Amino acid sequence: MTPIRKAIFPVAGLGTRFLPATKAMPKEMLTVVDRPLIQHVVDEAREAGIEHFIFVTGRNKGVIEDHFDRQVELELTLSERGKRSELEALARDLPGPGATSFTRQQSPLGLGHAVWCARDLVGDEPFALLLPDVLVQSRKSCLAQMMDAYRDLREPANMIAVEEVPAERTPMYGVVGIGKAEGKAFSITQMVEKPPKGTAPSNLIITGRYILQPQIFGLLEKQEEGAGGEIQLTDAMIRLAERTPFYGFRFEGTTFDCGSKIGFLSANVAYALARDDIAPAFRDELKRLLGER
Ligand code: UTP
Repeated sequence: MTPIRKAIFPVAGLGTRFLPATKAMPKEMLTVVDRPLIQHVVDEAREAGIEHFIFVTGRNKGVIEDHFDRQVELELTLSERGKRSELEALARDLPGPGATSFTRQQSPLGLGHAVWCARDLVGDEPFALLLPDVLVQSRKSCLAQMMDAYRDLREPANMIAVEEVPAERTPMYGVVGIGKAEGKAFSITQMVEKPPKGTAPSNLIITGRYILQPQIFGLLEKQEEGAGGEIQLTDAMIRLAERTPFYGFRFEGTTFDCGSKIGFLSANVAYALARDDIAPAFRDELKRLLGER
């Protein structure tokens, strides 16, 4: 099976739910503890063996490109001050030379359109897609878990990470129908975007991690606007499923929807509590704050 070497990170959205923070700064640069969201997600992809990182950016997003470049002045200053561990950490975070590409989505016409903008950079091979506002806290990176399951499949296919939610929340998401199990994955019988209450085929929702075959680009190219006047990825996936199998994968880990304020704040708490250097003092601080309410 063709290995998955490239990943797309769509970062061209307006992040309106975080205004005014996102007026001049990309949502994807908001920090969870001390790492920008986009760095957390790139880390996840690197752990899964991704070699090339494709960012679909837009206006006001130049700082993301700078973040994944060397900062020579900063490095010099750190070096003069003998801050070796900080220097090493910066070098570790950086994808190698030539391992990043940036393309522009000139107008934020939807996730499907953002993915389509990366078509020439991906070319004719399967790829991973990671939404940077979804963080998955897990022992093994979520995409790495998916790659293991993908390698076990017998044919080129598409795979999406899914997670269980209470039934009353399914109308807010894309929901999948559950078919036959295949290893750790299961075949998807249907995908429904935001099903009306009581009609969802299961409680499993599409989260922000995908492995897709390149045929998705041809479908996106011809696609009309869908819900919300945007070019929807799910609509193209539904059509791709008519010709190429789709699998769902239940990963191990906890998801945080960092596109919402509550999800973002929860991620900060959870990631801080998982850090040995911060957790003890932070736990005390949380107790103090909660005790006051
Ligand atoms: P979201 O819909 O969560 O992000 O898209 P948004 O539109 O920026 O946020 P709100 O709803 O206005 O607050 C998920 C991811 O897809 C990217 C976003 O940058 C985000 O990382 N995206 C979305 C694009 O790159 N282009 C688009 O047209 C839409």
